Amino acid sequence: MSLFEKCYRFTKAREVMAAGYYPYFQPIEASYDTEVIIRGERKVMVGSNNYLGLTHHPKVLAAAQAALYKYGSGSTGSRFLNGTLDLHEQLEEKLAKFLHQESALVFSTGYQANIGVLATLVGRDQHLFSDKLNHASIVDGARLSFGIVHRYPHNDLRALERELARTPSEAGKLIVTDGIFSMEGTICDLPKIVALAEFYGAEVLVDDAHSFGVLGEFGGGTAQHFGLENRVSLIMATFSKSLASIGGVIAGPEDVIHYLKHHARSLIFSASMPPASIGGVLAALEVIAEEPERREALWRNTRRMQEGLRSLGYDIGESNTPIIPVLIGELDRMLVFWKELFDAGVFTNPVTPPAVPENSCRLRIYCMATHTDEHNDFVLDAFASLGKRMAAI
Ligand SMILES: Cc1ncc(COP(=O)(O)O)c(C=O)c1O
Repeated sequence: MSLFEKCYRFTKAREVMAAGYYPYFQPIEASYDTEVIIRGERKVMVGSNNYLGLTHHPKVLAAAQAALYKYGSGSTGSRFLNGTLDLHEQLEEKLAKFLHQESALVFSTGYQANIGVLATLVGRDQHLFSDKLNHASIVDGARLSFGIVHRYPHNDLRALERELARTPSEAGKLIVTDGIFSMEGTICDLPKIVALAEFYGAEVLVDDAHSFGVLGEFGGGTAQHFGLENRVSLIMATFSKSLASIGGVIAGPEDVIHYLKHHARSLIFSASMPPASIGGVLAALEVIAEEPERREALWRNTRRMQEGLRSLGYDIGESNTPIIPVLIGELDRMLVFWKELFDAGVFTNPVTPPAVPENSCRLRIYCMATHTDEHNDFVLDAFASLGKRMAAI
């Protein structure tokens, strides 16, 4: 088969486009935090990871602009060489403090943080234990490592224990888990994972992409939520969600961070975070500390949306976080739901295999601190009238 043959044979997306149900790559023409304009039409955004509504916060915008004008539009190099600004170091210091860890290292994306850390730390004859629903960046990091990878069924900590018990006691081991699982909207059982890790001599890495700014008394994430900040080994987070920018971080013991700084290929062989993004994240961290009422509003909106959808008869699984999956089932039915909601002015995220099992398609809703009661009612009304129409089909 020729190299491009698979491309010529890939017709599924074009078929869905021709039928008018294609949900991906929707071009946003303007964004007003909780509302966006697409092809001239206003949509309520419930498909964004902008949990705290900080992408348009005046302080975040001003800091991003100031950094842009002070340092220019790009860092034009790797952290290792010419791409380290004093701002990167300030951010690392602030994040280490915020996460109550000794030290932190900033990458250009969360994806790069995960692949860099896993590929660097888990060497030959060492073991990586990973929940099967962990994010793709963890799956890819595992593939890049030379270690032995054990993928345990989602949340099946007995299976995890069996694998740990079978592993030579002297071998290096790392358990990696999402803090909040983004397909289910559920929180990992970190206390049990930490207890297993301590018993079997493993390190623990928590991916707090969706938990940073959302869980914990001060928004410090999953470990803070469970009071385990001094018992996890490493915390990873992204800046592309609550922190309203782009970039990623790994935080943990100083010696480990120092080693990653000199060995992680995704850090060394890629340009560093641009100045405006760092400026924005620095300001977002301040806002998170100064305005705890945003986190409270996020959780108020979350409870309201969960109760509203459940009372309309929708299956939202076990969701207990601002990520709410609305379980629909077959792909075609989910695409109809998505399109009807979109046309009614509601932007949701469609989730299809391979991210979820066959016939387990869902629309994913993300609550935001800045959604108003009117937004929540608008979304719930759209689900209510759609539910009635779809029940008749
Ligand atoms: C759990 C998880 N980890 C890592 C990432 C990667 O983060 P980034 O968008 O910064 O590359 C994501 C992003 O979707 C995520 O959801």
